[in-house]
Amino acid sequence: MATLEDCEMDSFGPELPAMFDGIRLAAVATVLYVIVRCLNLKSFTSPPELTYQDTPLSRYLLKCCPMLTKEYIPPLLWGKSGHLQTALYGKMGRVNTPTPCGVRKFLPMPDGATASFDLFEALGDHSTGDDITMVICPGIGNHSEKNYIRTFVDHSQRQGYRCAVLNHLGALPNVELTSPRMFTYGCTWEYGAMVGYMKRAFPQTLLVVVGFSLGGNIVCKFLGENRSNQDRVLCGVSVCQGYSASRAQETFLQWDQCRRVYNFVLADNMKKLIVSHSSSLLDLKSSNIGEADLSLLYAATSLMQIDDSIMRKFHGYSSLKEYYEKESCVQYIHKVTVPLILVNSLDDPLIHQSLLSIPRTLAEKMPNVIFALTQHGGHLGFFEGAVLFPQPLTWMDKVITECTDAICHWEKNQPSCRRSTHQSTEVTPSG
Ligand SMILES: *[C@@H]1O[C@H](CO)[C@@H](O)[C@H](O)[C@H]1NC(C)=O
Ligand SMILES: *[C@@H]1O[C@H](CO)[C@@H](O)[C@H](O)[C@H]1NC(C)=O
Repeated sequence: MATLEDCEMDSFGPELPAMFDGIRLAAVATVLYVIVRCLNLKSFTSPPELTYQDTPLSRYLLKCCPMLTKEYIPPLLWGKSGHLQTALYGKMGRVNTPTPCGVRKFLPMPDGATASFDLFEALGDHSTGDDITMVICPGIGNHSEKNYIRTFVDHSQRQGYRCAVLNHLGALPNVELTSPRMFTYGCTWEYGAMVGYMKRAFPQTLLVVVGFSLGGNIVCKFLGENRSNQDRVLCGVSVCQGYSASRAQETFLQWDQCRRVYNFVLADNMKKLIVSHSSSLLDLKSSNIGEADLSLLYAATSLMQIDDSIMRKFHGYSSLKEYYEKESCVQYIHKVTVPLILVNSLDDPLIHQSLLSIPRTLAEKMPNVIFALTQHGGHLGFFEGAVLFPQPLTWMDKVITECTDAICHWEKNQPSCRRSTHQSTEVTPSG
């Protein structure tokens, strides 16, 4: 700052009256102050805040995953602003996004819906030598073609994981609905169908369950819903989810951190998605959606209004309260017994800090849960890069595979009688 002021003085100073000069200096100082404040330049980088119980697995994880104990360093100029990280993720997703090559699968659901997911084979052997599949659930209304998913899939394939990515029901452009229903906040039917398909098609594979944002809610709910959903699952990872829709709902109408604005933008995207399917939703028989609901949808300016006029009706919930309570993972997550890694960022503008007591309390109570809370990263941002330009791979991509690699090795080295997840593979010769 001193050098900047000096050079400004040199070039203009002598010709200007002293008072004018003072005003200029004050203006420069104000602008600098606003920049420093908005970009949060003064905040320090620090290692993620970890909550966990002292168990052999957590000790092993901390030893094998240096990223959990090292600082996450965001790009110097803008990375400490949760808003800029979130905006960059929302607008661009990622930079220099790879295009992994996969096969699209369609699965008929009992109610006539057609689930779809994309399957990407591993690009090499996994370091354990085992056959491991990442079953990935993207964020709200997202699918496998989104940039952040493609980046993560490409990275995981290179680490030796096969990847299966759910396309949320109704999220793919140009794919018609075959029943009057779209994805909802916590419906696990399509995700469950994908996991079931993978278990049948690859009898020797072990699973790593990964969910981003709303996908994090779905995978945690899925694992806890039914004990058998954890069969052959090595571990679960959830990134940037909100845990309880009923509690998130109140915070979503508040203006601090501009959450009301994000709510508006998310609602607008959701509205476009539903409107693109409006003819199917109206025409298909047994639809709960009518013209009146659609006119409420057009007027909606928040996710809650859309949830109330449309989303809750897909599964016949009689009230918004019931929809949010029944579809939040917080009801089920304590029933998960496989290792579970929950990641959130403190400056995530979508997830109010009060919600973070849920994963923190869980990690204090449950020996299988580790909660990692970063200082920076925004919502699904976690960009890395020296000053200005972000790198294609983010901290999030790397920390997930680092942790899942470690857990895969840990599980492999357990005495086989304790490897409950491997039971069904013991008799199957791998190959
Ligand atoms: C899907 O992801 C993008 C970011 O890649 C986000 O901006 C958008 O709101 C998401 N949802 C929908 C319904 O488009
Ligand atoms: C759990 O899953 C099993 C096997 O898929 C199924 O038979 C059972 O009915 C499920 N239980 C519940 C409570 O949904």
